[in-house]
Amino acid sequence: MNPAPPVIPFRRSLLSWYRKNSRDLPWRRTTDSYAILVSEFMLQQTQVSAVIPYYNEWMRRFPGFAALAAASEQQVLHAWQGLGYYARARNLRAAAIAVREKHGGNFPRDLDAIRDLPGVGRYTANAIATFAFNRSLPIVEANIGRLLARLLDLQIPIDTASGRAALWDVAAELVPKHAASTYNSALMDLGALVCGVRPKCAICPVKHFCRAADPLMLPLKKARRDTKFCTEHHSFTRRGNRVLLEQSQDRWRGMWMLPRCAPPPPHKPLHLSEFPFTHHRITLAVYLRDDAGEKASSNQRWFFLRELEGVPLPSPHRRALAAIFPTTPRASS
Ligand code: ADE
Repeated sequence: MNPAPPVIPFRRSLLSWYRKNSRDLPWRRTTDSYAILVSEFMLQQTQVSAVIPYYNEWMRRFPGFAALAAASEQQVLHAWQGLGYYARARNLRAAAIAVREKHGGNFPRDLDAIRDLPGVGRYTANAIATFAFNRSLPIVEANIGRLLARLLDLQIPIDTASGRAALWDVAAELVPKHAASTYNSALMDLGALVCGVRPKCAICPVKHFCRAADPLMLPLKKARRDTKFCTEHHSFTRRGNRVLLEQSQDRWRGMWMLPRCAPPPPHKPLHLSEFPFTHHRITLAVYLRDDAGEKASSNQRWFFLRELEGVPLPSPHRRALAAIFPTTPRASS
């Protein structure tokens, strides 16, 4: 691994590029810790362009810690619907409750206390501390990780303990004492706009500091797990204007979905679709089931079709319902 570049000229080149090229993102217009927390939770595993409409709507619906802490899990899952990885939504609500219960409604400034909040790791804690409080702390997310791996010509996979440690070390060496918020935003934007998966080295403002011999080959990552293919079987039962749904206990805990059916019935499914989940490719098969008039089980409920818009449904199941009933509210993603 190469040493970090000379910090002062590196920062100067980066910041002069940022002054002309920064992205105008809604969470950059504020230093409110709640707004920054919401944006950072949403941005975990999700692209900026997909997050912006959710962020704006979320801030309208739950404008601060108190509003979010007072919301039910169902309301929160419903607002998150379509963003996926719902543990983030549950943790965000739990973090708002912790701010209310443990910190008297005020977001803590102490880094250890921030890291103690549910769903907050090193990256998220440092991102909030730098963007909300302008603290001089390094941050390493996907864009910055890729950029720094190239800058150093890092020949260790970045998703290993030693690769991560190397990135955090160099990020800490480079971060300035003052105006760290602007500097970290600049590094992120350079990673997103110039040092992307396909780097645009010709226009890179820090190319003279970059040690990558073959930037396209970096960053190195561990071999990917093979995609697993599987099928999940669910039933569709209608009673007049109502449909039977089941509350998920696992992947989509708390959300409502078409009831599972195992083993699958011997007839052809009414609906087939596919969706990705982590390293799985899942086929959703939905079978028409006659309503035999029996009572719904304890985790099942009949919902009026017109109610469905307000019910938290995972996107694959909302899409299946929309395909079965073209008048059902469309999935938001
Ligand atoms: N990815 C993670 N955090 C981000 C942020 N604050 N701005 C843009 N992209 C991000």
